[in-house]
Amino acid sequence: PEHYHDDIESVYIPHGVIMNRTERLAHYIMNDFQDDNIMVLCVLKGGYKFCADLVEFIKILGRNSNKYLETRVEFIRLKSYLVGSNDQSTEDLHIIGCQDLSFLRGKSVLIVEAIVDTGKTMKALLKHVETFEPKMVKVAGLLVKRVPNMAESLTDYVGFEIPNRFVVGYALDYNEYFRDLNHICVISRTGKMKYKI
Ligand code: PRP
Ligand code: MG
Ligand code: MN
Repeated sequence: PEHYHDDIESVYIPHGVIMNRTERLAHYIMNDFQDDNIMVLCVLKGGYKFCADLVEFIKILGRNSNKYLETRVEFIRLKSYLVGSNDQSTEDLHIIGCQDLSFLRGKSVLIVEAIVDTGKTMKALLKHVETFEPKMVKVAGLLVKRVPNMAESLTDYVGFEIPNRFVVGYALDYNEYFRDLNHICVISRTGKMKYKI
């Protein structure tokens, strides 16, 4: 949207490219899950657009190939940047709602996340999910940061590997702004930054 112009340095991944890649990932996912129904666990808020589009592609591909996979979508809201005083708290997963994931028991689970950055959020979530004894767990991450970390090995389906830049759009936020952008963009360092706290 126009009101963001001063704050966006460049479009990083155009919406169309995101869609093409998401369709590709949907294809891989369908091959791996075979005849299992998919229990999708969408990580809010960042994951909502990617999740919606991914599930849509799974449906369309299933329809076109007569290999329809049933998807059930559940949501979990996580916060990675904790307002904790001690170091310990930063290792904790901050779950807002939906702590009881017992509906995952025995299911084939696909966690859908917008970005795996340091991997802290995903690592903690995987640990939490495993306690409910699902049949299998796979992770789809639209973006994975190319920084020295274990992020890559946490993510089974990687949309794009990106360098360590702060990106927004397609449900990714900066102080809750920019989620409504369709493209993934890099925010300007020189802009007015009127969205800063
Ligand atoms: C962001 C992002 C991931 C997480 C990645 O979420 O959507 O969930 O941080 O960071 P990490 O790999 O370093 O743990 P955020 O906490 O900003 O919540 P939001 O999705 O509601 O914006
Ligand atoms: Mg998030
Ligand atoms: Mn955020």
